[in-house]
Amino acid sequence: MFEETLYQGKAKTLYGTSDPDELVVVFRDDITAFNGEKHDILKDKGRFNAAASAFFMELLASHTIATHFIRMDDTITMRVRHLAMIPLEVIIRNRAAGSMVKRYPVAEGTVLDPPIITIDYKDDARGDPMMNDEIICGLGILTPAELEEIKEKTRRINTILCDFFAGYGIALIDFKLEFGRYKGEILLGDEISMDSMRLWDEKTRESLDKDVYRENKGDVIKTYHTLLSRILPEIDEEFD
Ligand code: C5P
Repeated sequence: MFEETLYQGKAKTLYGTSDPDELVVVFRDDITAFNGEKHDILKDKGRFNAAASAFFMELLASHTIATHFIRMDDTITMRVRHLAMIPLEVIIRNRAAGSMVKRYPVAEGTVLDPPIITIDYKDDARGDPMMNDEIICGLGILTPAELEEIKEKTRRINTILCDFFAGYGIALIDFKLEFGRYKGEILLGDEISMDSMRLWDEKTRESLDKDVYRENKGDVIKTYHTLLSRILPEIDEEFD
């Protein structure tokens, strides 16, 4: 049963439930870029991201990475554990792209070995400023041990996802994670979807993610559909 709206994000809405330990996340068809400056509503976008996110959360659980995911209630409605979210966007980068290339002297596509973790403070009004370890711990957002735990989890998740995509000829360029506290543990929250990852076809370097929308490179719904049909054909069949 849904109770009050707890949080309306740019592409998802969170509702309380009769169980204080559980929330439901509804994946909407909204797609945004540049801190909401660009916005559209695209049919099936919510279903695609919900299906991808559920799949990846289950994949991580099978590798003993604890996440907020409980189950899908329907194609756009995910039941999750009620985390106290940590306001950080943890990004791990295997190759330089996006803000890395805009801010630093590195050519797009340069392999970053070992991968680089960058962390932004999640605050649209402040433009999601980049943090460093001293600010994160100095402001009491995380203890040094928690920060290390989050970085370690992020590296493990990166290895699992890179291996997964490599099997389909797809390079995982970078992606963003969000974590939260739940009963004394730090769990992965939010989503893992084409909205929060950069994926390139290994051979052609074609974008298979939200950059298609950000950079007006084509029909992003077609791209998401093509990606799902490539990596999760059994799920993609539901969308035909
Ligand atoms: O913009 P930037 O290059 O820093 O993004 C790095 C990665 O994090 C990309 O995969 C992007 O989709 C993701 N990201 C996100 N949400 C944000 C910022 C970045 O999912 N608010």
